[in-house]
Amino acid sequence: MPDTKRQHDMVVWGATGVAGRLVAEFLTEQYDPDALTLAIGGRNEERLEALAADLTVGAEWDDVPILLGDATDPKSLREIAASTAVVCTTVGPYTTYGTPLVEACIDARTDYCDLTGEVNWIRETVDRFHDAAVEAETRIVHSCGFDSVPADIGTALVQSFARETFGVPCEAVRIYLEDGSGGVSGGTLASFGELFEAASEDPVVRRTLVNPYSLAPPGERKGVDPGEQRWPRKDPLRDEWTAPSPMAPINERIVRRSNALLGYPWGREFRCSEVVPTGRGLRGAATAGAVAGGLGLFSAVMSVGPLRSGIRKYVFPDPGEGPTSEETEQGYFTVRVLGRGTTDDDPFTVEAQFGADWGPGYGATARMLGETGMCLREDDTDSPLSGGVLTPAAAIGTPLADRLRAVGFTATVGEATGMGDE
Ligand SMILES: NC(=O)c1ccc[n+]([C@@H]2O[C@H](COP(=O)([O-])OP(=O)(O)OC[C@H]3O[C@@H](n4cnc5c(N)ncnc54)[C@H](OP(=O)(O)O)[C@@H]3O)[C@@H](O)[C@H]2O)c1
Repeated sequence: MPDTKRQHDMVVWGATGVAGRLVAEFLTEQYDPDALTLAIGGRNEERLEALAADLTVGAEWDDVPILLGDATDPKSLREIAASTAVVCTTVGPYTTYGTPLVEACIDARTDYCDLTGEVNWIRETVDRFHDAAVEAETRIVHSCGFDSVPADIGTALVQSFARETFGVPCEAVRIYLEDGSGGVSGGTLASFGELFEAASEDPVVRRTLVNPYSLAPPGERKGVDPGEQRWPRKDPLRDEWTAPSPMAPINERIVRRSNALLGYPWGREFRCSEVVPTGRGLRGAATAGAVAGGLGLFSAVMSVGPLRSGIRKYVFPDPGEGPTSEETEQGYFTVRVLGRGTTDDDPFTVEAQFGADWGPGYGATARMLGETGMCLREDDTDSPLSGGVLTPAAAIGTPLADRLRAVGFTATVGEATGMGDE
């Protein structure tokens, strides 16, 4: 946290983009200027002014200040970071644009949160900036949107309930992307393309994507967890089929990093996996096969340079294009987290459910990032950590679930009964 009073409580950096605009709209609708001093930042003055004018319509805000800068101009980023207590950034791909802002925030001792799902870039910031962020007592919190808040905070809810109720944490959690509907923007697909690009060029990135513990602290990048499910599989806890989850590579690593950052409260042998449930019987098996085949084919195609370039150029929408505000408001999602533990030789199962009636990648993500920023601003956390390159569960923990419930999310936790034996 900054040790001096700043001009702004929070800056939404990248406010002219699809996600950034939704974050700014959410914050100005949810909070009034007495509760939050907010500024919006970006590189295009005209578009920022138009957005600032829109944000004041029908809201209690007379004015939303504008901060101009450029992600490639470190001086402008240092000025922005020094003017605020918290930066919420949606300027991606983060591999391309993210690093100078992380550096600027650590220099200025400004807390930071983002929406990155780029495992390779998180690994870079962990290796380059974790120690400096600890030293500066500055929280750099990655992956504060749909990846990876439901998985990470859902796991934190499960483990906190298990420890309070049974006196021990769960040895394993399984995350199910149950249901959802919502759009994908050009910005997200550009970030996805950047990840494949980096993997094609850099062996460290390839190793990062293969090692399930690649986001753990250096020296702790080994463990019992085998990593993502890659094939259709009958679920060990529920009587149905499951397919690989496209978000497992980021979500599972973030959850493992949370455990490591917090000092392994869930055990050194803690395991986590994320899957997409596809139903029972032949139809469930066929759907799981189709999802696994589709993901495998997509990865194979994106791994071939000329095909990747063609898809990025002709198939993906351009950055800045995205779901309409109607689509972001109309979507929904449900993520379930099942934790399995044992106490006095008796197995128990804990279930958390996390969901919302907004599109997961935009309407819901904007609220998740905005509320993460508010937790940082108000120091509303149950975390012992005051700095570092962190995850939502390690930086904030279950208070984020409380805040999200208060703005309309479902976040429940309790004992699950009648689960099958593993
Ligand atoms: N975790 C999740 O669930 C989740 C969900 C949604 C998005 N995301 C991630 O969030 C990021 C943004 O997504 P999006 O859909 O909002 O993308 P977008 O619409 O393309 O927005 C990108 C923003 O970055 C700004 N920008 C680009 N280059 C810049 C530079 N050199 N200096 C300053 N600003 C610059 C753009 O400004 P201009 O308007 O001036 O071009 C725009 O404001 C992506 O990395 C995406 O993967 C994650």
